[in-house]
Amino acid sequence: MADDKPDRVGHRLLIAAVAAALVGVGGVIGIAANSGSTKAKTVTVGTTAASATAAAVDPHVAAGAHDFIQFACSQCHGDRGRGGVSPDVPALTTVAKGMTPAVLRSIINHGLGESSNPTKPYMPVWGAVISKTQVDDLIAYLRAGLPAVPTAEPVAVPQNQGPAVEGGALYVRDGCINCHGPNGLGGVPNPQSPDKTIPPLSGQDFRKEFNTQAKIADVIRSGSVIGRAPIVSMPHWGGIIVDAQLKALIAYIETLK
Ligand code: HEC
Ligand code: HEC
Repeated sequence: MADDKPDRVGHRLLIAAVAAALVGVGGVIGIAANSGSTKAKTVTVGTTAASATAAAVDPHVAAGAHDFIQFACSQCHGDRGRGGVSPDVPALTTVAKGMTPAVLRSIINHGLGESSNPTKPYMPVWGAVISKTQVDDLIAYLRAGLPAVPTAEPVAVPQNQGPAVEGGALYVRDGCINCHGPNGLGGVPNPQSPDKTIPPLSGQDFRKEFNTQAKIADVIRSGSVIGRAPIVSMPHWGGIIVDAQLKALIAYIETLK
């Protein structure tokens, strides 16, 4: 319709006719350019989808890698289980491949080397805290050789922002939050223990019993073996959490309710 009008006027005005022709040509070029870019876009989408599929990680191995971070396995056994944190904690890289799923399940659920020796770390009891699915995924990850999985990394610890901020990040990084709850509020079940729950790190009872920094530091360093698996005990962190980080954790705990 728009083309009709300049066409009719063009009978009398040559310039108008030329202008109409230019609009027409421009229109054709526009359509060509549009279809060209539509084609190009389709090709790009196809390439992206293909490369994403190629890089996908087995969902169980990926979940296991994230569990390995969440439950702070990496804080004791090292990044991707490669050791180097403490002479008392073995590397898992080769060992885990040779263990059957049943043995791995038993070690994760029931711990290993647990003793009341306050100078040595032991493998904590996780059975009451961790689900069967999470143990299955951890086993898949261990038996796959603890591969690198994007974003399965411990939370960053802020520096130069004061010990309480640092301690808040360590509370997550060291996995304290899994057993003592967000904000140290407790409530995590420990059915076989006398209290039936893992104690909070907040509230009046806690403050009364742990009324000095030294008392809090002692229990974090040495742990507290309160019975055999499936009872969950307080892991021993001496030789794993360095003194400066211990101080930061205590500063954070002191900010809690
Ligand atoms: C507080 C430190 C600590 C944490 C956290 C920890 N471990 Fe351990 N783990 C140990 C110690 C110490 C041993 C060695 C125990 C022994 O042999 O007496 C061990 C042993 C093991 C073993 C047996 C290795 C072998 O050579 O016999 C496996 C498997 C294992 N841990 C897996 C895990 C997984 C999975 C997690 C996380 C859910 C985890 N560990 C978290 C300290 C820890
Ligand atoms: C696997 C579970 C588990 C993890 C992880 C854990 N704790 Fe504990 N923690 C316990 C249990 C169980 C007790 C109670 C021990 C007892 O009654 O003697 C305890 C006790 C404590 C206590 C003394 C409180 C009380 O009432 O007995 C402090 C403080 C503490 N933990 C701090 C920490 C910090 C800090 C971390 C992280 C570095 C941490 N815990 C990680 C299970 C855990």
